Amino acid sequence: MQRSLLGNSDLSVSPICLGCWQFNGGKADETWPAQPIEVSQSIVNKAIELGVNFFDTAEAYGMHRSEEVLGQCLGNRRSDVIIASKFGARIKTPYKATDIEESLRLSLEALRTDYVDLYQVHWPVMINDAKETVAELKRLQAKGQIKHYGVCNFGVENMKEFINAEGAGITNQLPYNLLWHPVEFEILPECVKNNMSVLAYSPLQQGLLTGKFYKPEDVPEGRRRTRHFNKDSTSMSRHGQEGAEDQTFKAIQSIREACGKEGVPMATASLSWLLKQQNVASVIVGCSKPEQLEQNCKIAQLSQELKKQLAEATDDLKSTFGNNPDMWAPSSRIY
Ligand SMILES: NC(=O)c1ccc[n+]([C@@H]2O[C@H](COP(=O)([O-])OP(=O)(O)OC[C@H]3O[C@@H](n4cnc5c(N)ncnc54)[C@H](OP(=O)(O)O)[C@@H]3O)[C@@H](O)[C@H]2O)c1
Repeated sequence: MQRSLLGNSDLSVSPICLGCWQFNGGKADETWPAQPIEVSQSIVNKAIELGVNFFDTAEAYGMHRSEEVLGQCLGNRRSDVIIASKFGARIKTPYKATDIEESLRLSLEALRTDYVDLYQVHWPVMINDAKETVAELKRLQAKGQIKHYGVCNFGVENMKEFINAEGAGITNQLPYNLLWHPVEFEILPECVKNNMSVLAYSPLQQGLLTGKFYKPEDVPEGRRRTRHFNKDSTSMSRHGQEGAEDQTFKAIQSIREACGKEGVPMATASLSWLLKQQNVASVIVGCSKPEQLEQNCKIAQLSQELKKQLAEATDDLKSTFGNNPDMWAPSSRIY
């Protein structure tokens, strides 16, 4: 599998990054079903066999549980791979420098390692102050406990605050896929300007872009929390909006037909399309079984005709959702 460098760093990553939110050690969360550790183990083994060298996890995924599972599954292969993790698991009391240090300590312990290759701010609302955060990240970098740092879910103003604190970071991890375009309006151009690589998360819109769901009710309840779905679709919804269910499923049907005509699986078309977008260095995809990862690693060259049809299928959704990139909430958490 090919590699590309993140930002101006020496981190050389595969275009497919394995998302480890699903690694819950057999305990379901509000979004993902229980995944026994043996299944996570077989997914990690498959990833390494296929040439995937990039893994994304976070403190917030089960309060270090996902990191623990990843550390255990990697075993003595830690130095062969690049681990991205994140701090930030609460909003009400944002992280001060000492909280970041403690969070990293617990992450290193869980991951069974003494360094994280890419340490990310999970959400801008989770930090106390940009200058304090940048200074602490640089201090942890100087200590060798993190090799590089990046951000997630940062809008243009959030990025500017980090740039003004003289520490933009090498990556911005963002929600981006054929059914979710808001980052295209302002955020991607800002990433290009500042040489920040984009890591695209939920690249299959949590399974919708595999084509296996035909109507909203087919989608597991925890995944109906996003702004694609009506606020009443699940009691866990936080956005309070009407959603765009008809448009979403119409777009999925058009993508299904366009891909069907060319014999390209929808997941392949979706991930391949994403990897050609501005500054996207890697797509972070989660899996519930190794066979899915095998399928998701099949990147293809898409025909001009298919690209045109994918754009036509999703243009309406792009204008409906506008430029708020937050998949779960109104425009209050990212600016
Ligand atoms: N920074 C952030 O704020 C943030 C937010 C969200 C996610 N992330 C990261 O991004 C990663 C990926 O995002 P995500 O998990 O939200 O969504 P995703 O990667 O778009 O979807 C993952 C889910 O889709 C299904 N799937 C995957 N490949 C498939 C295939 N080939 N055929 C059929 N179904 C398939 C699986 O669920 P089923 O088999 O159960 O249907 C899988 O768990 C996460 O693991 C996490 O590391 C980061």
